Amino acid sequence: MTTLKKQDVIDRAVEVLKENDRGVYTVPTKGLYPFQWNWDSCLTALGQRHFDEDRAWVEIETLFQHQWPDGMVPHIIFHVYDDGYFPGPDVWKSGRPTPTSGITQPAVAGFAVRRLYDNARNKQAAARRARALLPKIDAWHRWFYENRDPQKEGLVAIIHPWEAGRDNSIDWDEAFERVPTHGVEPYVRRDTQHADPKHRPTKEQYDRYLWLLQHFRSLDWNNSKLHDASPFQVVDPGFNAILIRSCADLAVLATELGEPALAQANRDRSEKGQEAMEKLWSEEHGQYLCLDRVIGKLIDSASIGGLLAAFCAVPKARAEVISNTIGKLAEKARFLVPSHDPADPRFDAKRYWRGPCWLVVNYMIADGLAVAGQTAMAERITQSSLDLIAESGFAEYYDPLDGEPLGGGRFTWTAAMVLEFVQAA
Ligand code: DGY
Repeated sequence: MTTLKKQDVIDRAVEVLKENDRGVYTVPTKGLYPFQWNWDSCLTALGQRHFDEDRAWVEIETLFQHQWPDGMVPHIIFHVYDDGYFPGPDVWKSGRPTPTSGITQPAVAGFAVRRLYDNARNKQAAARRARALLPKIDAWHRWFYENRDPQKEGLVAIIHPWEAGRDNSIDWDEAFERVPTHGVEPYVRRDTQHADPKHRPTKEQYDRYLWLLQHFRSLDWNNSKLHDASPFQVVDPGFNAILIRSCADLAVLATELGEPALAQANRDRSEKGQEAMEKLWSEEHGQYLCLDRVIGKLIDSASIGGLLAAFCAVPKARAEVISNTIGKLAEKARFLVPSHDPADPRFDAKRYWRGPCWLVVNYMIADGLAVAGQTAMAERITQSSLDLIAESGFAEYYDPLDGEPLGGGRFTWTAAMVLEFVQAA
């Protein structure tokens, strides 16, 4: 990028972030997602820090104001009334003072807060704000291992595809067969009124999303019961890698801020998790795979979840193989990183998480690979992400074969990631 073009990209990214800013939280995009989403917000803060450090902290602080008493941080905070989204608070009925959903999302806050702190211009204010967030993030991490790892294996399960954020990934197809659809209350989808239905999950998948929601609601959102009561329990390497990385980063931050006990607890979680990740490695696929915990079997699905595992400092040899696997994907797709292997007959270039590229995942994979010394591939992923922006603007996701912008437009976290990427370009 020339200097001029770089400044142009920065200006456009900042414009998107400001447009979606609702004062103390940012919506992912207007229309399709009119509330605060958990991991969207944490990654958004990383973009905001480049032009307004204070606002970046506020984004994460707002999210943690809605943490549940048991430690869970919900995946959506319904700050305002908006009937343009389904399922809204009247469906979740989570009983929180400000309505929230009843499930969680990837725990990227620990990583984000360390990054905000490490790069802060105002170090004193950053130390104060990070210190206030430390015990809250720690409580969320503890919640995960207490509620989603009942056998103390070091890996947590998601109990709803929305928790992974990769809603309709091919990874869930088989396990999802086990989720019934009878008794699902009648509903009208809103997402398909904002985005092309061909780029969104199917009706069958929505029926199952809703069945799980109703099932958990019937158990009063009691987290000590939900894992075992769920017919869907999947150990996703990407989801675990984010949590493990956040534990490791929180440990470093806690040490720096003089909280040794909190640091030790998080170091223990991350080390145990890193070791346990090995159970998910597939030599044949050259990446990690999801585990269907209900039947105790690895899921034969070469998705981006197993590449995202690179985010948690996996052994260097594993990072090298992951980097080679991504190199092979680059021979099949014009843009990196497709969310599923284009050679798999189940690949769908335009349907949400069944093929398209997502800049947030690119960012985390590139970061992990760079840490592991795979700098050439990290740079290649970064460049491919910026090429997508230049060609197709700030979309929610992109067709990896032709670069078509897909889903919601003027998307917050895409813009935030661009601000992160251009610092390195
Ligand atoms: C949606 O509504 O599409 C979300 O991904 C659920 O969080």
